[in-house]
This record gives sequence, C-alpha cells and structure tokens, in this order.
Amino acid sequence: MRALLPHPQDDVDAEALVLGERRDAPEGRPWVLLNMVTSVDGATAASGRSGGLGSPADRQVFHALRATADVVVAGAGTVRAEHYGPPRVTPELQQRRRERGQAPLPRLAVVSGRLALDLADPFFTEAEVRPLVITVDDAPAERLAAAREVAEVVLAGSAHVDLGRALAQLHALGARTVLVEGGPTLNGQLVAAGLVDEVCLTLSPTLVGGGSLRLAVGEGQGGFTPLRLDRVLADGDHLFLRYVRTGGE
Ligand SMILES: NC(=O)c1ccc[n+]([C@@H]2O[C@H](COP(=O)([O-])OP(=O)(O)OC[C@H]3O[C@@H](n4cnc5c(N)ncnc54)[C@H](OP(=O)(O)O)[C@@H]3O)[C@@H](O)[C@H]2O)c1
Repeated sequence: MRALLPHPQDDVDAEALVLGERRDAPEGRPWVLLNMVTSVDGATAASGRSGGLGSPADRQVFHALRATADVVVAGAGTVRAEHYGPPRVTPELQQRRRERGQAPLPRLAVVSGRLALDLADPFFTEAEVRPLVITVDDAPAERLAAAREVAEVVLAGSAHVDLGRALAQLHALGARTVLVEGGPTLNGQLVAAGLVDEVCLTLSPTLVGGGSLRLAVGEGQGGFTPLRLDRVLADGDHLFLRYVRTGGE
C-alpha cells in the first residue's frame, strides 16, 4: 500500500496508520466514523452486496477500522443483505486496545425498527461480546422479547430510532468511537443530522450503474457537512480516502 497524502510514501503499514489516527469524541456523544466502499460512479453495491467492490487491501482497512471502534453499527438492511459477522481482532490488537483504555473487542450494534432480524445469524450467534439492538418503544413486543434473549436492547425513540439519542446512549455505555458501516439509509440520517465526524471511503476501480444507492440517501434537503481530505492511500487501482469534518479535530 502506498501513501499519496499527506506525504508520499511507499510500503506504508496501513493498519498502523489507521489505528494511530486521532478521534476525539465531541461533548456528549461518540466520534462517528463512516466506512464505505463505492464504485467510481458512486454505487454502494454490485448485485445487491458490497463485496464485489472491495479488495484484500480494502478488507485490511475494514478490519483495522473495526479495531479502532468501541461500537460497530449497521442498519438492519445491511445486516440482512451482507453475511454480517462480529469483528475479528488479533490478540496483539486486543492488547493495544486495552492499553488505550478500550474493551478488548468492539461491540456490534444493529439499528432496526421492525426487528425483522434473523437471530440465528452470525451477528448474534458468533459475537463474543453481547451485541446491541438499537430500536424503538413501538417495536413488535414478541420480537423485542426475542431480541433481549440474545442482545442488549437500546430504546431510542417511539416510531423511528432517534440517532442522536441512540448515540448519546452509546456514549453513556462508554463508547467514544462509533464506526458506522452503512448502509446508505442509515448513513443518510446521520448526515442529515450533522452527526458524521469522519468518512473513510474506499474508491473501487469499477463502474456499476443500475439502481444501487449512493453512500447516503434520504428524503428532503439532507444536511451539509464540509470535510477536509486527511489522507489518501492507494493499493493497485483502489484508493482509500479519509475525510474529517472541518473543525472536527
Ligand atoms: N458499499 C458499502 O460499503 C456498503 C456498506 C453497507 C451496506 N451496503 C449495501 O447497502 C444496502 C443496504 O443498505 P440500505 O440503505 O438498504 O439499508 P440500511 O441502512 O443498512 O438499513 C436500513 C434499515 O435499518 C433500519 N433503520 C435505519 N434507520 C432507522 C431508524 N431511524 N429507525 C428505525 N430503524 C431504522 C430499518 O430496519 P427495519 O426495516 O428492520 O426496521 C431500515 O429498514 C445493501 O445492498 C448493502 O450491500 C454497502
């Protein structure tokens, strides 16, 4: 992997670089980092999944970012579409996390209103730390009870999850860095609410077209968050861009 920005350098240790980046949580909520891969034309999925857009280097960055997070959050659509498993963190990285005052493993969280989740999914069955289900008071009672059997439930709203409230609750549980892994529907609400501090974007050398959603979607005007390009890495034709909210550091 090569660095192009801030300083050109061959053979960078992308994992060490990603793990060393500064993420200072704002007052009352965690630092929110989005990690996504898109095609050159902005698609977030090819044939319904993101896997075809990635590369081994993308997986490396994906795992390194997971290793920085206290909580890894995904929307229920992503958990349903992707083979979604718990973070794998090497014993060395677990030790490094302890030294930084973090739990050895990040916690997985899913945002869902309907709770139409497969509780036999690896998301729940393979997690070494009890996952979180972020949902609403109005969620179907039976599904809520079933979710409580396999996860810790966070209630943050009545009809829809209020993501600001959800993040405040994660903060109260000790989370200082929250990694959001999509999908576009969840991202769009965070962007509209001005709750994104950082975007790690892998640009895949592909064109997809079709009806794939872009990185963040929603209704209405959305939001507007100016970003600063903080680093650029390259591996073959894949680019790894890190943007940080202006004034976010
Ligand atoms: N390229 C990438 O890096 C990347 C990353 C992730 C995903 N993807 C792709 O993106 C697609 C999935 O994205 P998506 O936008 O359709 O789904 P999504 O954002 O992952 O999940 C949407 C679902 O999350 C729940 N949700 C989100 N916000 C909520 C709120 N405020 N209150 C209550 N529930 C809420 C709802 O679940 P319920 O319906 O259960 O209530 C909603 O249907 C897949 O094709 C996936 O492969 C790509």
